[in-house]
Amino acid sequence: MAIHPSRTFILRKLHQLSGIVPLGVFLLEHFYTNSKAMLGSEAFNQAVTDIQNIPYILLIEIFGIFIPLIYHAVYGLVITWEMRPNNLHYPYARNWFYLIQRITGIILFFFITFHVLNFRFGLIPGLNDLAVATHPDQAFYIVSREFQMPVIFVIYIIGITATVWHLANGLWLFLVDWGIIIGPSAQRAIGYACLAVGAVLLFVGLNAAVAFIRPGGLLGGIIY
Ligand code: HEM
Repeated sequence: MAIHPSRTFILRKLHQLSGIVPLGVFLLEHFYTNSKAMLGSEAFNQAVTDIQNIPYILLIEIFGIFIPLIYHAVYGLVITWEMRPNNLHYPYARNWFYLIQRITGIILFFFITFHVLNFRFGLIPGLNDLAVATHPDQAFYIVSREFQMPVIFVIYIIGITATVWHLANGLWLFLVDWGIIIGPSAQRAIGYACLAVGAVLLFVGLNAAVAFIRPGGLLGGIIY
């Protein structure tokens, strides 16, 4: 007798996969481009220009980023809505991680909406009427001018930290749920590895943000 996976099972697996590919992979590319800010405004503007010159960039953005992101975000909110938080009953780290994965998801929903409207489309009234994507020659200036505002900078620090946590813990969830890492000791070891990946990503993400307001980033350009 053939076994047919349920619709929920397939939607759930697609949700998990979309968090890694393409969203997680896109985040790595995004942090890489942002890190060009450590080399100064010209290098960053050139990196944005190069991206805008990629053939079929609009189609890549729509099908490779926006559609998977909307799917992952909306289905993620449905999962969060249906959740049964049991971390208050069992004091295990994994129960807290379950809750934090959902809280960071909600933060990301608001943060990414703001971020995309702000820098991709220049649509936040009173804050930014220039879109970075359509003004690559002024990209560094647009970001740097906004990051001088403490409220905006703090929003980005929170957004970057929530994103990195969500991806690092999500990577562990994915590896375990897809049966790639089996057995308690292997899962514990991979847990530490994901934590290390998260720590490196957090440094890279925050360092890139700081580079827009301090030449060279956190370490003043000692490490490029
Ligand atoms: C935009 C708002 C977002 C919301 C509301 C959201 C929500 C969620 C939720 C609730 C889960 C847990 C699913 C479960 O336990 O079964 C999850 C998992 C995950 N998310 Fe997100 N997420 C968002 C954005 C992102 C982004 C931008 C990335 C990538 C950088 C990402 C990567 C992941 C990964 C890798 C997982 C783990 C997949 C798994 O459970 O196996 N998410 N997300």
